[in-house]
Amino acid sequence: MEKYWYWMVPALFGAVVLTALVVNRFAPAARRRLRRIVVLYVLYVVCVAGAVTLSEGGEAAWAGRLQIAAHLFEQFTIVNVLATVLFDALLPRSKLTFSAILTDLIVGGAYIVVGLSALRQGGMRASDVVTTSAVVSGVLALSLQATLGNILGGVAIQLDGSVHVGDWIQLENGKQGRVRDIRWRHTVLETRDWATLIVPNAQLLASNILILGKRGGEAVPQRMWVYFQVDFRYPPSRVVKVVADAIVGAPIERVAKDPPPSVICMDLARDGKDSFGLYAVRYWLTDLAVDDPTSSLVRARIHAALRRANIPLARPTQSLFINPDNSDDQELRATRHREQELRALNSMSLFDSLTPEEKETLTHHTRFAPFTAGEVITRQGAVAHWLYILESGDVEVRTRIDGATETKLVATLSGPNFFGEMGLMTGEPRFADVVAKTDADCYRLDKPAFQTVILKRPEIAKEISGRLAERRVELIAIRDGLDAEAQKARQQKEQAHILQSIQDFFGLK
Ligand code: CMP
Repeated sequence: MEKYWYWMVPALFGAVVLTALVVNRFAPAARRRLRRIVVLYVLYVVCVAGAVTLSEGGEAAWAGRLQIAAHLFEQFTIVNVLATVLFDALLPRSKLTFSAILTDLIVGGAYIVVGLSALRQGGMRASDVVTTSAVVSGVLALSLQATLGNILGGVAIQLDGSVHVGDWIQLENGKQGRVRDIRWRHTVLETRDWATLIVPNAQLLASNILILGKRGGEAVPQRMWVYFQVDFRYPPSRVVKVVADAIVGAPIERVAKDPPPSVICMDLARDGKDSFGLYAVRYWLTDLAVDDPTSSLVRARIHAALRRANIPLARPTQSLFINPDNSDDQELRATRHREQELRALNSMSLFDSLTPEEKETLTHHTRFAPFTAGEVITRQGAVAHWLYILESGDVEVRTRIDGATETKLVATLSGPNFFGEMGLMTGEPRFADVVAKTDADCYRLDKPAFQTVILKRPEIAKEISGRLAERRVELIAIRDGLDAEAQKARQQKEQAHILQSIQDFFGLK
């Protein structure tokens, strides 16, 4: 027996060191397990040393008992070394992972097998050992009822596979979190607030839990609701269309395209007392970890769309009574709006030759039109109704070549600037898509207003035709691949053509 230890003690030492190296290299998260292995190995060495010393001292009976203990610790060390290398280092590398409970069960089973065989080798009868451990287990089961409930809950959750690590779940109290680990006694959830929630397994099993973003075991986006309220005098069909067009018209990060978002009118003048219609945007969230920021993007899109369509969000009912709109308030607000519009017009060199009075008149025809990032402001080929004054933000001018679905970038405009003048001044369809690159605050100037300006100051048409020709040639160059020489030649031709189109369109001589 002693000879056997001469090689077994160093061999096991080598195996422990090797396991430590493998774990450090491939599975640093499993370092905790190393401690158990080292403790078992140290106990093993102590028992071996004790057995040798006692047998040399003639204490054969005690030496025999320590020998059995040494044998037990030796086997336990081997089981742990194998389990750690297999379950923590090798199998995860081939994408095979076992839950903590399952590996513990396998290791526990291995303990029983090697333990029984070690005791048998030491001369003990297996039936005695089984009877003793059954009595001990019975006593423990009685005293640890609650803990056992949790443990059995954990085993049940693992076995029936209803909850997996990585799932998002909602508890009965409304708390939500992502399952990080299913342990023996409890399940660990990580909430979006970076908190960790410990739920006893028995409780998890006894209550109704929602598994979010999953159906039939398949991951699906989670349906989200964003509510808004609009004065009930605005027709629901119009509100629904305005918001739906804006939400579906351009992608929003983490909002699924399929199923598409929808807008519904939930209620009108609820209980006969609210002075608003209640609406909801229902969208499908693709990343459950980012729910509130995504709803916030959706709300920004709703707000901008309603603002463009001049549909105000409902005011809190109380303010209708406590702070009624009087004519002074309305006057004040109108003046403030006109000042903002005037500031936008003044920032445009396009209108430099207009007198302050003419600009003041124009403000009656401008309307604030904000856009959120990603929204299409004008579409290539559409009829032009407005000239856009870009007060702040960036927009991209993009052109589509011969029916292709992809568009090509022509230019990026930053506020203050203007666009949409080509269609408005020549009556031709829009030349390009203009897409908001960032959130963009625009003012729309309608065609009759522009017509008044051009009729009063025909020289503006001449001034602007040069600028228009430059933009148009740049766009045609990208679309048709013109070189510098060809662009120069085209410039003069386009300018003359544009001037003619403007004069024809507005009936100038
Ligand atoms: P319109 O054709 O009405 O609609 C698309 C708008 O994109 C167009 O008017 C111009 O205002 C703008 N646009 C087209 N080409 C360019 C360019 N090369 N640089 C800047 N803006 C452009």
